[in-house]
Amino acid sequence: AAAQKGGYKHFMLKEIFEQPRVVADCLTGRIDRETGSAWLPELEPLPAPERLFIVACGTSYHAGLWGMYLMEQWAGIPTRVEIASELRYRDPILGPGDTVVAISQSGETADTLAGIQLAKARGAKVIGLCNVVGSSVAREADVVLYTQAGPEISVASTKAMCSQLTLLTLMALVWGRKRGVLPAEVAAKCLPALEALPAELDAALPGMRDRAKALCRVYSEARSFLYLGRGLYYPMALEGALKLKEISYIHAEGYAAGEMKHGPIALIDPKFPSFALAPVDALYPKVKSNLQEVQARGGKIVALTHPGADLDVDHPWEVPAGWGPLATFFMLPALQLFAYEMADYLGKDVDQPRNLAKSVTVE
Ligand code: G6P
Repeated sequence: AAAQKGGYKHFMLKEIFEQPRVVADCLTGRIDRETGSAWLPELEPLPAPERLFIVACGTSYHAGLWGMYLMEQWAGIPTRVEIASELRYRDPILGPGDTVVAISQSGETADTLAGIQLAKARGAKVIGLCNVVGSSVAREADVVLYTQAGPEISVASTKAMCSQLTLLTLMALVWGRKRGVLPAEVAAKCLPALEALPAELDAALPGMRDRAKALCRVYSEARSFLYLGRGLYYPMALEGALKLKEISYIHAEGYAAGEMKHGPIALIDPKFPSFALAPVDALYPKVKSNLQEVQARGGKIVALTHPGADLDVDHPWEVPAGWGPLATFFMLPALQLFAYEMADYLGKDVDQPRNLAKSVTVE
């Protein structure tokens, strides 16, 4: 096992550090060099969807929530994202002409499979987005897109999510173009920015790990964390909170920053820290003012942000901004590393957290 970990202490750490390669591998064969656009041959036979359902569980569900933003903004496709265990017991308005994207790293999650079966029974087209070749999701879906992230051993998913985000980005580019609505700036800048990511991420990861290690020592006595984000970073807040609870057993809640005032703010005190996602984008002023509300109640704050931000919080954590929404690809590993370092510092079994399974194949 030591050899399989490639010199890393845990599979999770190894997999976090594999993410630059995962992005590169996910792009392999998916860029048409002649036209300079995204190319997903698997999707060619299908018309671009008029309406999209994304179905998944756990971390894959968070990837789906993130994908919704790009599907709507870049491809103009009204999109709903559903937790598979909820969709399967509703009577969803779903039928011929609808497209369902089922996201699953393992391809064996029982609820996600049930969602696929329900969608197929109602005549919808199912696109499976999965990592394990030949898995049940791959076999049941009408069309499969492989995330090509390689085997993920750690129970807590990291690199698989990175590959899911990459593929969702490509899908939004392909469909946006097919539907003739892809914004020109996105068409020109997204792929070159995606191709530059592996090298930029590689350069940034070691420093991020050091910062995560230092910060987790400051916050290791916290019993609870509130993760806050807006827009694309709301799903990231959910994912950051999920990673922390999964492996460090510290209670954490992910919240849309603007919803904080409707409840969670009542919890804030000097012993209840917040972890904010505060990229310098259009929503930055809004997040900043949410953080001021936290501070006014004595809450400590770690905030992932970008160089040049003027955040006055306890622990601003600057990561590279990259281009547009691809800033996510730098924030995600920072969240993963914070949870990882916290769990390791607290002596938890990082790769095999209690009560959790890598894939939940029964209900
Ligand atoms: C389990 C794993 C999670 C994973 C979820 C969905 O709960 O512990 O890491 O995100 O299942 O798995 P899937 O294989 O369908 O993506």
